[in-house]
Amino acid sequence: MSKRNNIILIGFMGSGKTTFGKWIAANKKMEFVDTDELIEKENGITISDIFASKGEVYFRNLETDMLNKLLERDTQNCVISVGGGLPVKEENRELLSQLGTVVYLWADADELVKRLSGDNTRPLLAGGNLKEKINTLMDARKEIYDSVSDIKIDTKDIAFNDMFSQMEEFLQKNMSVSYTHLTLPT
Ligand code: S3P
Repeated sequence: MSKRNNIILIGFMGSGKTTFGKWIAANKKMEFVDTDELIEKENGITISDIFASKGEVYFRNLETDMLNKLLERDTQNCVISVGGGLPVKEENRELLSQLGTVVYLWADADELVKRLSGDNTRPLLAGGNLKEKINTLMDARKEIYDSVSDIKIDTKDIAFNDMFSQMEEFLQKNMSVSYTHLTLPT
């Protein structure tokens, strides 16, 4: 199946997928979709409560179902932010590459600790030492993020405008699908 012209943002919790995704949508008049938000809306329950009542495996299956729904709904021209652990499942990586160009938002562990301390919405980071948890999960995921992504952007100390320019330049040069709806902010 050929690739769609969606932009998919992946990366660790706190990498800025949702905020950058909303910024792109607002500035480029694209539609913004967030798999976590859709899962919460469609199931009428928060991610934390899904983890607590049904467990992680159940949540991962909801993520796969959501990717399949986005493909079935013929989603196009969207910025799609996905949960940090979604690419870990191989089946999801295949679905992601059908859905669009995969952009990996990266930040180092110290930066992620700054952004995530005080957050209580992510069950996988609850309790214990935050930096250790981030390091352990990041070690298990970093090769996966690298392998599934078309482009990686360092999100530390950089404005959204500049992140967008990097991404746009890559898309125009390297992707066979059309991203003509994207133009640099003036
Ligand atoms: C998770 C990331 C979260 C959410 C869930 C699990 C993960 O999304 O899907 O808490 O496994 O990394 P964000 O990356 O948007 O925080």
